[in-house]
Amino acid sequence: MRSKYVAGNWKMNMDKEGAQALAKGLVESLKGLNAKFMIAPPFVYLDSVYQIIKGSNIILGAQDMAATENGAHTGAVSGAMLKDIGVSTVILGHSERRYEFYENDTLINRKIHEALKSGLDVVLCIGELSSHRIVGVTERICEIQIRDGLAGITDEQLSHISIAYEPVWAIGTGKTATPQEAQDVHASVRSVISRIYGPKAAEEIKILYGGSMNASNAEELLAQPDIDGGLIGGASLKTDTFTPICKFASR
Ligand code: 13P
Repeated sequence: MRSKYVAGNWKMNMDKEGAQALAKGLVESLKGLNAKFMIAPPFVYLDSVYQIIKGSNIILGAQDMAATENGAHTGAVSGAMLKDIGVSTVILGHSERRYEFYENDTLINRKIHEALKSGLDVVLCIGELSSHRIVGVTERICEIQIRDGLAGITDEQLSHISIAYEPVWAIGTGKTATPQEAQDVHASVRSVISRIYGPKAAEEIKILYGGSMNASNAEELLAQPDIDGGLIGGASLKTDTFTPICKFASR
C-alpha cells in the first residue's frame, strides 16, 4: 500500500519573512500527520527555510537544478549545492520550465541523472496542453514525457523518483481535472511504468496530481486508487489552505 505524498511548489512567490513564517506555520500544523510532506521554496530561501523545518516531518525540495555538475554555468545551481544546504528532493520538468524556459525531455533527462548522482530524489512533472486533450493524445504525450525523461534510469534509481501528473490547462487556472479524468491518466502512467520497469515498480511508484488542487477538491482526488498525493501551487502558499490537503492525505 502506497503512502500519500503532498508537496508544495511555492514557485516564484514570497519574501524571506513570508517564507519563514509559512515554514513555521506548517511545522506546527502538520505535526503528527502521517504522510510524506515536502515544500519547495525559491532557491534563495531554501537555506533559511531549512533551518526552520529540519527535524520536522517536512522535507525540503528545490524547484529546478542544473544539468551539469559544476563549473562555468552562470546563474545555475547544482545538485551538490542543493544537497549541501539540506535539500533532499528536486522538482524537474515542471511545465513552467518546459514552456517558459524551453526545457525539453532531453534536458530534463540530463537533470534527472544529475540529481540522482547528487543523492537527490526527484519529482518528474508531466502533463498535456489543452490542445492535446482536445485531440485525444493526452496519454500519448504523457508516455513520451515519461519514456524520454526516464531514459537510462535503472530500476534501482526509479525508487528515488515520483511522477507528478499536471495537466497544463489546470495549473493556476482554477480548472481541475475531474477525479475520473485524473484517475484515468494516473492509471495509464502506472501502466507505462509497468511496461518499462515491471509491475512491482509500477505498484510502488508514487504518482501525484497537480493542477488547482485545493481543500475543496483534494479529498475526492486523493480517494482515487492511482492518485498518491498532490503537487500543489497556489494552495501551498498559506498554512490555512495547504494544511487541509495534508490532513486528507494523512487519513
Ligand atoms: P496550482 O496548484 O496553482 O494550479 O499549481 C500546480 C502546480 O503547478 C504545482 O507544481
